Amino acid sequence: MKDDTKLTRLGRPHDERGLVNPAVARGSTMLAPSAAELYDFPPGRVHYGRVGLEAQQSLREAVSGLQGGAGCALTSSGLMANTLSVMTSVEAGGKVLAADCIYGPVRSFLLNTLPKYGVTTEFFAPRMGAEIGDLIDDNVQAILLESPGSLTMEIQDIPAIAKIAHQKGVITIIDDTWSAGLTLKPLQLGVDYAAQALTKYVGGHSDLLMGAVVARDEKLFDRLRTTERSFGFHTAPDDAYLALRGLRTMAIRMERSFSSAMTVADWLKSRPEVGRILHPAHADHPDHALYKRDFTGGCGLFSVEFPGWDIPTSERFLDALEIIGMGFSWGGYESLAIHCDPQLKRTKSARTHDGALIRFAVGMEAPEDLIADLERGFAAVG
Ligand SMILES: Cc1ncc(COP(=O)(O)O)c(C=O)c1O
Repeated sequence: MKDDTKLTRLGRPHDERGLVNPAVARGSTMLAPSAAELYDFPPGRVHYGRVGLEAQQSLREAVSGLQGGAGCALTSSGLMANTLSVMTSVEAGGKVLAADCIYGPVRSFLLNTLPKYGVTTEFFAPRMGAEIGDLIDDNVQAILLESPGSLTMEIQDIPAIAKIAHQKGVITIIDDTWSAGLTLKPLQLGVDYAAQALTKYVGGHSDLLMGAVVARDEKLFDRLRTTERSFGFHTAPDDAYLALRGLRTMAIRMERSFSSAMTVADWLKSRPEVGRILHPAHADHPDHALYKRDFTGGCGLFSVEFPGWDIPTSERFLDALEIIGMGFSWGGYESLAIHCDPQLKRTKSARTHDGALIRFAVGMEAPEDLIADLERGFAAVG
């Protein structure tokens, strides 16, 4: 089956009435049929609500099936999908190698929380490929990727990194929220755990926070599920239902955001204020060749360089926008923009952009209206 068909078929319930969506069942207690069966958990029997009922199960099947994984864990946020993947993969005395472009709160987790459990982190320049092998010493247990990277949008050479990691017995994890498991198949490229924020394109309507981790094989899934259950992670059935509902229409929403983003990006490129367009699908992007090799499509999220602009100039530009809002998320129906410089925390890679960096998340609006809005921004800068 093609992905478009999978999105409509995966995780459908076996409902006697013919309903095509799972029930939103709420429950903690699950009564055992008999005393003898109280401690007997045959496959398929849920003994306690925390492990998830129909809606969570359907969502797990759909997210995992779309990526060709062995199984999926659900988390209450995308951040927790990353932290669960790491906690599954490391133990005291170990070290994580993390791409220098990872999402800021994941960086904080690695630097502030993980050391309490005896695990350290070393960051690496995100454009490093197989040379990452030189950084893998006996303590390295996991490599954490995010491609494209948060804000600066670097694409990593996933197959090269996964190959060397496997040779050295190191687990690879990727935050692939940008592809939503649709336009990139990291597990097929050799990655062990694909983590993503379902909050973004899967949810798609800016009304849901949730995350998922998909494991490449059964052994990795066992390890993931054990960690998920021992921490007591749980997601609400209503939220799982919303995520699954979003997943059904995700491909067309992503395509629309992607095509509008490219229209807006091309227009921006024609402006004298604009430097490089950091959308991996745009020829300007330094990793465009890797994008073409590994991805089958894109989405509406990209960053743009504004050479010569400083933070106050970016603020004047953003404050003049009337349709495009300012907010930290993306993947919803509404367009957003943020200036990135106040939150950039790279330590292992040279400054990647010239002037100010603004990230745009293009939503469902007509691109003409977004362009008119951006014209208002440029007019305010003068
Ligand atoms: C790449 C990436 N990963 C993870 C997250 C975190 O997702 P959540 O807000 O669901 O915790 C975000 C949020 O912006 C993100 O951009």
